[in-house]
Amino acid sequence: VGLSRTGLPWAARSVGSNTDPGLELRQPAALRSQNGVFRTELVVARTEVEVAGIKAHMLTYNGSVPGPTWLLRAGDRLEIRLVNNLVEPTNLHTHGLAVSPEGNGDNPFLTIGGGESFDYRMELPEDHPAGVFWYHPHHHGMVADQVFGGLYGAIVVEGDDEIPVSRDRVLVVSDTTLMTDGTVAQGSHSQVMNGREGELLLVNGQTQPLFAARPGERERWRVVNACASRYLRLALPGQDMLLLGVDAGHESPPRGVEDVLLMPGNRADLLVTMRRGTSTFVSLGHNRGSGMMGMMGNADLSGPATLATVVVEGEETPADAGVVPDRVADPDLRDRDPGNRREMTMTMGMGGMGGGMAFGFDDRPFDGERIDQSVTTGAVEEWTIRNSTTMDHPFHLHVWPMQVVEESGTRVAEPMWRDVVNVPAGGSIKVLVDFARHPGRSVYHCHILDHEDAGMMAVVDVG
Ligand code: C2O
Ligand code: CU
Repeated sequence: VGLSRTGLPWAARSVGSNTDPGLELRQPAALRSQNGVFRTELVVARTEVEVAGIKAHMLTYNGSVPGPTWLLRAGDRLEIRLVNNLVEPTNLHTHGLAVSPEGNGDNPFLTIGGGESFDYRMELPEDHPAGVFWYHPHHHGMVADQVFGGLYGAIVVEGDDEIPVSRDRVLVVSDTTLMTDGTVAQGSHSQVMNGREGELLLVNGQTQPLFAARPGERERWRVVNACASRYLRLALPGQDMLLLGVDAGHESPPRGVEDVLLMPGNRADLLVTMRRGTSTFVSLGHNRGSGMMGMMGNADLSGPATLATVVVEGEETPADAGVVPDRVADPDLRDRDPGNRREMTMTMGMGGMGGGMAFGFDDRPFDGERIDQSVTTGAVEEWTIRNSTTMDHPFHLHVWPMQVVEESGTRVAEPMWRDVVNVPAGGSIKVLVDFARHPGRSVYHCHILDHEDAGMMAVVDVG
C-alpha cells in the first residue's frame, strides 16, 4: 500500500518491512486516576509479543507494546511503583509533565537496577495544561536501546473542555527492527551515529493496522512520536485534519492542516472528521540533514512511510454536533522581562568513544556530576540553542515549559509551547523558559536518543 521503506543495512537478517495489514487497530490498556490519585504498578520486562506476524522479544511495560495509557487530571497525585524485571538498569521519565525533577519525582539521574523496584511520587499542579504526554526510560547510555526495544506509553491529561467525538484514539507511533529470531536488532555504528530508524513502523505496536469509521463521524487522535530518532510528517490525504495542539501548546483557534511535523518526542492532538472512502495515514518524511559530515549516506533517513489504512464506509452518521470550542489561550512569556540570556550549541566532532563521533553541548559530552546551567527559581530566561552540525537535532528540556519565539533568526508569528523543538542543521532557535516552580536538577538533550546516549545532553540546576 503506497509508500514503504527498504534498503537499510540490516535488511539481510531482519524480517524486513513485513506487515500484518488488515488487523483492526487496538488501543493500549487505559489506567485512570481515582479521586485525584493515580496509583499503579508498572513492570518492565522482556516479553514475547506478536508484532508483524512474528513472535518478537520486546521490552514491555506490563507485558505490552506500548505500555498502558495513563489518564490523568490536573492536580492528581501519582504513586507509581516501577518494577524492573530486566537484568539491566532502567528508570522512568514522564516526558512533558511539569512535575518535580527531584527525589522520587521525574528524576533522570536515578538508576533502578535489574531486579529492583522504585516508588515514584509526583504531583501534577492544579493548573497543569491538558494534553498528550508520554513516558519512557531515561537511563543515560541505554535510552535509545530501551525505547527502540519497546518501552513507551501515552499519558493524557484530560481537560474540562473535552470535545464530543465518536471515538477517542491514542496513537503511539514507534519504529523498530526485528531479526528473524524475533529479537530487536542492534544498531550498527553508522545507524547509531545518525540516529537509528527501524524498518517497521508501528502504531500501538501494530504494523499498518486498519481504522474503521462511518462517514460523518468525528474522531480525536492523540498521536505520540515515540520513535527513537525518526521524524514524522503526518498526513491523511482525502480527510480533514484539525490541529488542536502540539505538546502542551494549544492552537487557538484550532486550524485545518495538511500535515504535522513531529520530532521524536513531540505529540499532536488532532480532530478528524471522516469522509467516505479509503485513505492512507502516512508520514511524508523529513530530510533531517546530510548526516555525519556527509559520510553516512542518510538520504533515506526519516523517509516516507505508511502508518495505517483508514476505511470509512457504511451509513452516514449525522456529523457530530457542535462547533469545536475555542480553547483557552496559552500563557505568553513575551511580556515578561527575561532575567537572563543564555546560549548553547549542539556540537559533533571527532574523538568520541571507540573512534566514533563525540556528541555534546558546547563541545562537552554529558557529565551528570557537572552543572552546565544554574538558574534561579522564579526567573523567565531566554535561551538560544544553536546547531553547528550538518544534521537537524530535536532539542528537549525536561520539566520547565518553553515558548518558541524565534527560528533561525526569524520571529515566530504565533509563539509555540513545545517541549521538543527542531534545531535545523546550521540554524538556531530561541525560546523563553518559565522557571517559576519545580526547583531541582534535570537535563536538556537531543531527542534523537542515540545522540543523547552519546553525550548530547547537559545538566540544568534550578534553585
Ligand atoms: Cu523524552 Cu529526556 O526525554
Ligand atoms: Cu541529535
